[in-house]
Amino acid sequence: MSEISLTSANTRQDSEPLRIAVLVSGSGSNLQVLINAMQAGALPIEIVGVISNREDAYAITRAKDADIPVAVLSHVASGKRMGIKTFETHASTQLTAWQPDLVVLAGFMRVLSGTFIDSMPVPMINLHPALLPAYKGLDTHQRVIQAGESHHGCSIHVVTAELDAGQVLTQAVLTLSAKDTTESLQARIQTLEHQLLPWTILLIAKGVITLNNQASHNKPAYLPTLPFKLFFED
Ligand code: GRF
Repeated sequence: MSEISLTSANTRQDSEPLRIAVLVSGSGSNLQVLINAMQAGALPIEIVGVISNREDAYAITRAKDADIPVAVLSHVASGKRMGIKTFETHASTQLTAWQPDLVVLAGFMRVLSGTFIDSMPVPMINLHPALLPAYKGLDTHQRVIQAGESHHGCSIHVVTAELDAGQVLTQAVLTLSAKDTTESLQARIQTLEHQLLPWTILLIAKGVITLNNQASHNKPAYLPTLPFKLFFED
């Protein structure tokens, strides 16, 4: 179990939205799902800021269109690569200013240091395109096809210093078809992600998923044991 404590979220009033900071690197379709749900009043969240490590990420446009503060901490500036320590220093300053209850990595492709992760005062969760603990790391769809797996899916887990190894909170699962390619699987998995991420955040915001030992011991016994799996069939 994770030792990370959801202090701010636990102490906030039920009527207050869960303050979320989102870290992105790409298209930001998962961010868009959260924006839409927030704007529709379907999720009790406030996206307090978005950090992108790429200046060409379409996620930046999505955030700006929704009037969400954005910090672009490009990994390459003036032809020079920004080291991870510099990135993390700027990201920490930004997160301190935004005061999130929860940090969400949604398609964020930089590997963060253990020092940064351990110093984070609030929980951080990551969306991973595979059924952890299987298929950590990159190119998951291709490796799943090559291995002849019958099932694939995506996971949301607590971020810890070890890559893709923190406690798995929720998973969505699908059945592979003989016709699946890397591209078709990517699209099918992304459809699952767009459902799993808001559901998981709703469960966190409502206190059903708690991210510290103490709170989970207090959880009523009739609630399901995590990870909570959604099975999709199409
Ligand atoms: C997701 O499919 C995620 O699994 C992977 O990167 C993608 C991000 O998509 N790590 P988007 O930027 O949310 O559209």
